[in-house]
Amino acid sequence: MKKYPAPLIILHWLTVLLVALVAFMGYRLEDVEFSAENFVYFRNHALAGMLIFLVTLVRMFFKRKYKEQLPTLNYYSDLHKMTVNGVHFLIYLMLLLIPLTGFINVYQTGAFGFCFGKPFPDGAQLSEFWHETHEFFIKILFVSVAAHVGGVFAYSFKNKEKLLKRMCLFSK
Ligand code: HEM
Ligand code: HEM
Repeated sequence: MKKYPAPLIILHWLTVLLVALVAFMGYRLEDVEFSAENFVYFRNHALAGMLIFLVTLVRMFFKRKYKEQLPTLNYYSDLHKMTVNGVHFLIYLMLLLIPLTGFINVYQTGAFGFCFGKPFPDGAQLSEFWHETHEFFIKILFVSVAAHVGGVFAYSFKNKEKLLKRMCLFSK
């Protein structure tokens, strides 16, 4: 069975872990006031989220590098191929846009300087617009990932082929 190249497998599961962790940290921010005392929670979420952004860029680089060696699927139709590629595209896009919208939100408060010893700006407030955008993209990511995981199992079941093995380092 043709497998994904090792760097792509490692980056895939690292992303899954990071998304779970960052989303958990994000939901814990919901009832936390944006203030100097609580800034550490926002900073930790922001740092881990920005790591996802970097990991995604590295992953895109490796995907390009191994373009010719990637395993393919036996697509049922052009529509099936478009759907699979569309879902993957949406996932990549959201993994870039979610950190970006979060970053803009914290940046516009002027509080990033607090990490480098500057005073916490008076009346610093998160923006409702960037909050809503962050949340909207998170929803799109979760729906795409649900479709992706559902698709992996549906394809495996229909074709009696364990697709998961292609994303495992140690399987044959
Ligand atoms: C893929 C990466 C990220 C994920 C999955 C993620 C996820 C989340 C989640 C689930 C929430 C709670 C949403 C809610 O209130 O309903 C949240 C809130 C927040 N996130 Fe992120 N986040 C990511 C990256 C970032 C980054 C890089 C920053 C900043 C540099 C950031 C800043 C914030 C802030 C300020 C909040 C609280 C206000 C708000 O909801 O907008 N996030 N995030
Ligand atoms: C945050 C969660 C997830 C994200 C963001 C994600 C993202 C992706 C992306 C973009 C691909 C396309 C290949 C690539 O570009 O490297 C892929 C492939 C794959 N993913 Fe995920 N995935 C997630 C969760 C999961 C889970 C939970 C499973 C387990 C069922 C899984 C199993 C697979 C498999 C088996 C492939 C290879 C499919 C094939 O051979 O064509 N993924 N994933």
